[in-house]
This record gives sequence, structure tokens and C-alpha cells, in this order.
Amino acid sequence: MSEKLWGGRFAKGMDKLMEKFSESISYDYKLATVDIKGSIAHAKMLGKCGIIPQEDADLIISGLEGILSDYEAGKIKFNTNLEDIHMNVESILTERIGHVAGRLHTARSRNDQVATDVRLYLRFETEKIIDCIENLQKVFISLAEDNIDIIMPGFTHTQHAQPILLSHHLMAYFEMLDRDKGRFKDCMERFNYLVLGSSALAGTTFPIDRDFVSQELEFKAPTSNSIDSVSDRDFISEFLACASICMTHLSRLAEEIILWNTSEFRWINLDDSVTSGSSIMPQKKNPDAAELVRGKTGRVYGDLISILTIQKGLPQAYNRDLQEDKEPVFDAIETLSMCLDISSLMLSTATFNKEKMLKAAGESYSTATDIADYLTRGGLPFREAHRQVGELVAFCVKNNKELLDLSFSEINEICPTAKEDILNYMSVESSVNARKVFGGTAKQTVQKAIAKAKANLS
Ligand code: ARG
Repeated sequence: MSEKLWGGRFAKGMDKLMEKFSESISYDYKLATVDIKGSIAHAKMLGKCGIIPQEDADLIISGLEGILSDYEAGKIKFNTNLEDIHMNVESILTERIGHVAGRLHTARSRNDQVATDVRLYLRFETEKIIDCIENLQKVFISLAEDNIDIIMPGFTHTQHAQPILLSHHLMAYFEMLDRDKGRFKDCMERFNYLVLGSSALAGTTFPIDRDFVSQELEFKAPTSNSIDSVSDRDFISEFLACASICMTHLSRLAEEIILWNTSEFRWINLDDSVTSGSSIMPQKKNPDAAELVRGKTGRVYGDLISILTIQKGLPQAYNRDLQEDKEPVFDAIETLSMCLDISSLMLSTATFNKEKMLKAAGESYSTATDIADYLTRGGLPFREAHRQVGELVAFCVKNNKELLDLSFSEINEICPTAKEDILNYMSVESSVNARKVFGGTAKQTVQKAIAKAKANLS
């Protein structure tokens, strides 16, 4: 049994098992820096508003600053008996400056303190994640530039569809990541408000200055309703939804890399540094980085489902259930950041097999749409052109030919309105370069998209 900061009304201490069950310091120590910064701002405000004597505020502030620098130097050990980060910091402060430390918690509760801490923490971490996303976007840009001429089959239904540039395919991921970045920024816009001052749930009787604290901690403004403020974890749900969507993108990428790395494809060569071998089969080189990204996506989805489920039955306002909000956040941040970084490493060290991709692009009648388009430009309704080219493909299948192998007279028999120049529309190069429409796969168009993406990033 141990003494608690809130022990006054208790005749008996807490059971050891209960202590172990309810502590959060083993993980919320990660909030130490933001917790101390939040307390410094609060103490400044208490002094400025004359709620505590200025000399006490000064003593508290310098004490907290000392704890912060010692924490950053790795010199502080936290104590599980003290439950959470807030109690630990207050107790260390008391050891250092004596009973004056007891004035810090005036006009504050752990309920508004913890909600403030998590928002501050997420703000710093979201900025770091955005940096990781931008790094990966830069990798896509340089891969697209370096491989601008590689043609590959584009897919629908995991079946060859139409020829595309590999660079266009890669830039699709750039766009997905751009939306991820935007979502994280939006999320930050919505959560960057100050909760402190809401106290336990009803606000405080002291004449505090929430605007001052808000400015000190670089929030946009104080939140409007004390009850909502201490119980709201929407921002965590939103953050984890953003993280989950971003992981979906990384997982799709990982899946493609795994597929392209199979012996059946051999379109991509992964660097030894991001692959690993088998303990039994000496010949193996496995795409473990990509597989782990795909696997870890499940963890982050789990984190999102956890936070949603934790909140779904909670009446207003703060409930201890909310302590369970932190591990999913920490897990998702660490997982997503690592997956972004490993994807950057894996892609920046990969090379592509141009010949294999080009050969695959020319198979499976992938320019059939181009021929139908040609006949349509000659005056046929698209439906009729589609039907004729369908017959042409059936002829090829029956006679074991590709479209490029057909002679003009073979074509003309099935497509009577075709002119000899139809032969110019059979190749994958002409197919790709004809798609000059904004957003399309023609080389010039993709080059413009890359230039725009570069300009937006810098
Ligand atoms: N460790 C707690 C949490 O993370 C801090 C708030 C505790 N508040 C309370 N009334 N017990 O939620």
C-alpha cells in the first residue's frame, strides 16, 4: 500500500494489484515533455492572474524547467506507484521545491491536463508524420523521373487493361499520399484548441486566463464547453482514421511490390538491405519489408477500432476508460512512421526491369481500346467500333496472334471502315502517348504532373 496525492478521504491505501492494474506511467511517460510544458504555461498564468503569489509561480516554473532538462538528459526515473505522468511530475516537483509545488494544481484537474497533453503531443507527432509522408512523396517523384520511359500494362481486375507509363503508376501513390497529408493537416486544424481551464468538467471558480494559456501553448483558442472538452477524444479517432487510411495506401503499395517481386513477374528488384533470407531454403530472398508493412496495417486498424469502441458507451464527462486512449495512439504513431520510412528506403533502393514490363504491356490485346477509338474517330458509333474490335480480338485468340501481328487485309475484313493508318494505333507507345488528356498517361502529361508535384512540395 502506498500514499497517494489524493489520499485525504481514504482510510486504506490501494491494493498492489489495483496499483498495477490502473497505472499508466509505463506508457504515458511519453507525454512527459508536453505535460511539463503545459504545467509551465499554467503556472505562468496562475502567477500573472494573481491566483498564486508570483514568487511561488517563479519557483514552480524554474523547478519544472529543471525537471524538463533532466528528463531530456535521461536523468529522471518515474515511479509506478505514482500512477501516471501527471502525478509523477508533481511528486518530483515537490521533492525539489517543497510544499509550494502543491499550488500548481490550482484551477486544474488531471482531466483537462491529460486532454491538453495528448493534443500537444499529437501536434508535434503529426508534424513529424507529415515530414515522413513528404519524404516518401519525394521518392516517388524521383523514381517517376528516373523511369519516365518505362511502359507497363495498367491493370483492372488484376488483368492487363491498357498500356501505361510506370511513372504515371508511381505518381498515383504521390496523389494518395498528398491526400493523407491534407487529412492530417485538417485533423490538426480541428484539434488545435486548448482544453486546460475546463478543470474536472465544470470549469473553475478561479479567475484564470485561458486565452493567455492558449497563446503560450500555441493553440488557436480555448475550447468552448468544459464538459465536452474533458471527454472529447474525437481528435484521436480522427487521427487514427487518418493513420489507417495512410496505412491502407502503404499496404496497397506493399502488395504491388510483393506481386512485382514474384518469379512470375520479376518487374522489380529489391535491394538486399530491405529483404531477408530463409533459415532453411538457401536460395530465398524475401520481400519482408513490404510484407511487414502489409501486416502492420492490421495493427493500426486495430488501434482505430480500439479508440472508437472505448468511447461508444461513455456518458459525459471524463471516465477512466479514457486512459485507454493512449496506447493505440502511441502504437499507431510508431507503426505509421516506421512504415513510411521503410517504404521510402525500400523504393529508393529498388530498380525496375524495363524489358519485362514493356513485353508484358504488349500482350493481351492491351491496345484494343485505341483501335476502337480510331474507328470511332472515323465515324462509327463507339458501340459498333467496340463490337468490331471485339471480333478482331476473337480472331487473334483463335489464330494465336497479337494485334500487332495482324495485316491490314485481316483487319479490313472485320473493320471495313478502317484505313491503312489503323496500323499506327496498334503499338503500346502510340497508345500511351495518345492519352494527352489532363491526368492521363502520355509522357508529356506525366512530366507536367511531376513538375507540378515538385513545385507543390517545395
Ligand atoms: N491517467 C489518466 C488518464 O490518462 C489521467 C486522468 C485521471 N483522472 C482521474 N480522474 N482519475 O486518463
